Parts: sequence; structure tokens; C-alpha cells
Amino acid sequence: MGKVISLINLKGGVGKTTTTVALAEFLTFEKGKKVLVIDLDPQTNATVMLINQKVWKKANDNKRTIHQMFLDKLNNTDYFDIRKSIIKGVSSINGGIPNLDLLPSSIDLLDAQDRIPMINQMNSFAPSPITVLANCLTQELIDEYDYILIDCPPNLGVITLNGIYLSDYYLIPVVADILSTYGIPQIKDRINKVSDNIKLINRTYNIKPLGIVITKYRMQSRMHRETRDDLISRSKLPETDKSSVPKVFKDYIKETTRISESTDIDVKINTLKQKYGYSQQVYDAYESITNEFILRAK
Ligand SMILES: Nc1ncnc2c1ncn2[C@@H]1O[C@H](COP(=O)(O)OP(=O)(O)OP(=O)(O)O)[C@@H](O)[C@H]1O
Ligand SMILES: [Mg+2]
Repeated sequence: MGKVISLINLKGGVGKTTTTVALAEFLTFEKGKKVLVIDLDPQTNATVMLINQKVWKKANDNKRTIHQMFLDKLNNTDYFDIRKSIIKGVSSINGGIPNLDLLPSSIDLLDAQDRIPMINQMNSFAPSPITVLANCLTQELIDEYDYILIDCPPNLGVITLNGIYLSDYYLIPVVADILSTYGIPQIKDRINKVSDNIKLINRTYNIKPLGIVITKYRMQSRMHRETRDDLISRSKLPETDKSSVPKVFKDYIKETTRISESTDIDVKINTLKQKYGYSQQVYDAYESITNEFILRAK
């Protein structure tokens, strides 16, 4: 059974996309797993980290991005074909990793996103606006993968809820500061509420938190150290406690300038070591987070 995991945070720039792509690359290249990355963010950051702009342009011109998937439901058309839209063997490593596939996003989604909540008001045959992705991504397709990682935009709007609707787990990347961690209880509450509603129509639905991954960590920063300690102690509180948070992954990703460079698809590299091994700490941390991810997403 393929496991579906959404990476979410209400705050932007906390490493959701970087973590999605790194996890996908470590799970495939290092652990031999098969992974599909779904880019649900109109900013298309995961898309441009995994395919070059020419490949994206062709997919976009051929209506093979998640933009068309939503547009079909708004316009009552039937252009989008999920199997044809999944791009196989993506990544900047080695010209592509055979077991790493991508369902790309499109910046055109920016124009359509405000209308998505109205999907079944405009077309009574259309599904609920939060089940558009689930209508395309069949269980059969999910089971062709070990993991499906969904990179979400920095909100819990209707596009993100399409990911939540399908997910077995959600993972929260955070920067260890007050603003980035403040919203964690809100995320938990909101997902619990949405989850109760989904359970009314789908009784087997049971999304669970996979944990918190700390990114862009600065050991020298007292704020970062204190926030990390605080998160770890709050993760030990009973779940019913208002200030409890999901379990924090043991390792964290430190802030480095090279991570930003390693995201460039046009920089040719052959191995994970070349892409992430500029710092042994970063490489080891991603490896440890990947191992913990596999253990938790059972
Ligand atoms: N460990 C790190 N050290 C330094 N820079 C990093 C690190 N991780 C991510 N970054 C950089 O921080 C920026 C934000 O990261 P990323 O795009 O992964 O965040 P995000 O949460 O997906 O943002 P958004 O909410 O806009 O989608 C990017 O420029 C990325 O290259
Ligand atoms: Mg992002």
C-alpha cells in the first residue's frame, strides 16, 4: 500500500519544498523506494527543482499539470489525464532518478485558485472542491508507489485540503522561531476538524501527524535552541493538551548557503553525496530523517 504524506505549514519559507525534494531523493536514490512528488503549490518550486523549464513548458502547453486538473472541474471539460501528466525519472541527480516521478504544478493555477472553492456550485456534477485530486489519483495508482509526497502551499486552503483529503500523514517542516512554530496547534486543530468532516463521508479516513522536521537551524541562535527545546518538551505532552505538538524528528537540517545552490536543476550532479555532501552534517541529517520517516510512515 502506498503511503501518502502532505508537507504543510501555514508559514512560508520554512523548508516544505526543500524537505519534500530531499526526502524524495533520499528515499529513491538511497533507499530504493518508489516515490511520486505532487506539487500542489502554484509557486511551482518543487516542480522547478525536479524538472527543467523546457520540460515544464511542454507539460503546461499540453494541459498536463494540476492546473488543468482543477480547470476541468471548473469548466466541465475532460482534458487532464493523470497518467500522461506524471513525469517519470525526475531530479537534477544523474539526469533523473528512475524511481522518482513528479506530478507538476503550474503558475497558471494562481489565476484559477480563487475559483476552486466554487467548483461544485458552478457544475453540479463536479466533486467537492477538496476531492478533485482524490478523483484523479486512484488507489491503484497510489499503490504503484511506496510514498507519495505532496508539497503544499503555505496555507490550509482548498488546494492544500486536496492533499489532506488523500493523506495518511502530514509532516510539518518548521524553522525554530516563534513565528514559524506559533501556528502548529492551529494546524493540528484545523486538520482534526476537517478530518471529522471527511470521516462522515469516508469512514476509513484517518490522517495522523508524522512529526515536525526542524530546518534552517542555527546552533548559534539562542532563539533556535530554545524553540527546539520547547518543541521537544511540548511533543511529550498528552495529545489532549492544548499546547502539545507532534513528535520532533531527532535530527535537524542546519542553515547553510549551499542548500539554496543545490536546488538548481541546471547544476549537473551525479550522486546524492555530490548534491548534499558539501556538509557531512547536512547529508547525515537527511539520511537520519529519511530513516525516521520510513519507521514512522508504516
Ligand atoms: N537548510 C537550509 N539552509 C539554507 N537555506 C535553506 C535551507 N532550507 C531551505 N532553504 C532556502 O529557504 C528558502 C525557502 O525554502 P523552501 O522553498 O523549501 O520553503 P517553503 O516552506 O517550501 O516555502 P513556501 O511556503 O514559499 O513554499 C529557499 O530559498 C530555500 O533554498
Ligand atoms: Mg514551498
